[in-house]
Amino acid sequence: MSELAWWQRGVIYQIYPRSFQDSNGDGIGDLAGITARLPYVAELGVDAVWVSPIYPSPMADFGYDVADYCDIDPMFGTLADFKQFADRAHELGLKVLLDFVPNHSSDRHPWFEESRSSRDNPKRDWYLWRDPGPDGGPPNNWLSRMGGSAWEWDAHTGQYYYHAFLREQPDLNWRNPQVRRAMDDVLRFWLDRGVDGFRVDVLWLLIKDAQFRDNPPNPAYLPGQPDHHRLLQTYTEDQPEVHEIVRSMRATLDEYGRRVLIGEIYLPVPQLVRYYGAKGDGADMPFNFQLLNAKWHAGDIAGMIRDYDGALPEHAWPNWVLGNHDNPRVASRAGVVQARVAAVLLLTLRGTPTLYYGDEIGMTDGEIPPDQVQDPAEIRQPGIGQGRDPERTPMQWDASLPNAGFTNGRPWLPIATTSSVRDQDRDASSMLSLYRRLLSLRRNNAALVQGTIEHVTAYGDVLTYERRHRDQRLFIALNMSCTEATVQSHRGVVLLSTLAGRDGQALTEGVNCLAAGEALVASIRS
Ligand code: GLC
Repeated sequence: MSELAWWQRGVIYQIYPRSFQDSNGDGIGDLAGITARLPYVAELGVDAVWVSPIYPSPMADFGYDVADYCDIDPMFGTLADFKQFADRAHELGLKVLLDFVPNHSSDRHPWFEESRSSRDNPKRDWYLWRDPGPDGGPPNNWLSRMGGSAWEWDAHTGQYYYHAFLREQPDLNWRNPQVRRAMDDVLRFWLDRGVDGFRVDVLWLLIKDAQFRDNPPNPAYLPGQPDHHRLLQTYTEDQPEVHEIVRSMRATLDEYGRRVLIGEIYLPVPQLVRYYGAKGDGADMPFNFQLLNAKWHAGDIAGMIRDYDGALPEHAWPNWVLGNHDNPRVASRAGVVQARVAAVLLLTLRGTPTLYYGDEIGMTDGEIPPDQVQDPAEIRQPGIGQGRDPERTPMQWDASLPNAGFTNGRPWLPIATTSSVRDQDRDASSMLSLYRRLLSLRRNNAALVQGTIEHVTAYGDVLTYERRHRDQRLFIALNMSCTEATVQSHRGVVLLSTLAGRDGQALTEGVNCLAAGEALVASIRS
């Protein structure tokens, strides 16, 4: 497996820093807390940690509103804490990935404060300023992803500025070469500090239509959907010029030897795969989010795997994401039993898996009482399911301790459930043990890391596929229903099953039984 890069062999683990481990009793996770928990992460068997934003921020969008790209928010620690964190991670053999948020800054970033100070400020053009439309209202019909117009009036200078998200998150003007140079310097600042790569926030939104044309209405819009779905995002996302930006980010990273570039991109597969660029000049991994919205149905998932594999350019390395801080947790989407099947799926598909903290212990979405809602997405568009607090609740370390061992103070969000790392640690049938076994199986079987994926098939509620490398053939069968099912197989041996006691058992040629919600990986011979 030596010819593969670490991020092709490895598994990425996302840490939402506010919620992983608090070390100072303020109820919010921090870098020292993460550092203290790194041995747990390394023992789990993942290869890299991606940490959501830790930069100085007014926290209007919990760090995705950056007020200084080259420092650490005091809430999370200092640059010295960051160094300790990165050094410790590297000592433990873990790579460090940061979140890079180039589309918008905070409205409190000095760049924006300068930009809004006057129309002739040298940084005026660093953001997207426009005169009012003919009726004196916003310049066009563009809508914010957090609800309402995407244009905010600035009385002081008599113009509007554009914000794809909150008004506290003005969009930078990526057509301005000075912005691009400043952002390259941000990348270099962190690369100089030993960062192994970046997850780039909303990469597909960076460039907007140069003529600021109105977005057309979305004929498929249904009332109750988020506001911005009323329009197609024809002129506000996935503009052709974005690919040039990706190439230039890639070139900056390549100044440091090859570091990994991952893009957050919510687009249909044919558009998504263009972000790979030509060989070596695009993103290494445009995040593949298909599983986040998948219907938990064998036929749908089989189709999705085949279509994705078929759409990838020859040089492209696939990847799969099972959870993140913006979507309901898998144990709530698919249910706690099927979350085990999902773990087997994630870790046996072809491509780099990204795992969201807490999913390895089967955390479910938390119940957030109305007076404890934190997420601006819920506060600004209440009751339509946009809130992201449920999937951001604190990591559950030890159910016998107050706040599951996350904090000595009052946690910023309530603890979701009682199950914890400590309960699951020595229980061979726990979700945590399943993840550890799967991660070790993946690490030790070249077919799972670099093998082809073949014969992706759904038989009723059972999804099956093969991973092949040289003479190794692995057969994967996932029973996605809550009843027993049968599966056709070759002769083989079960290497791992979600069902206790099945490992090491034989599979016979022909029909084999799968228990309700059972998933297995077997080594087979033809
Ligand atoms: C990305 C982040 C999300 C954030 C948004 C605006 O989608 O994942 O949490 O709200 O960008 O920065």
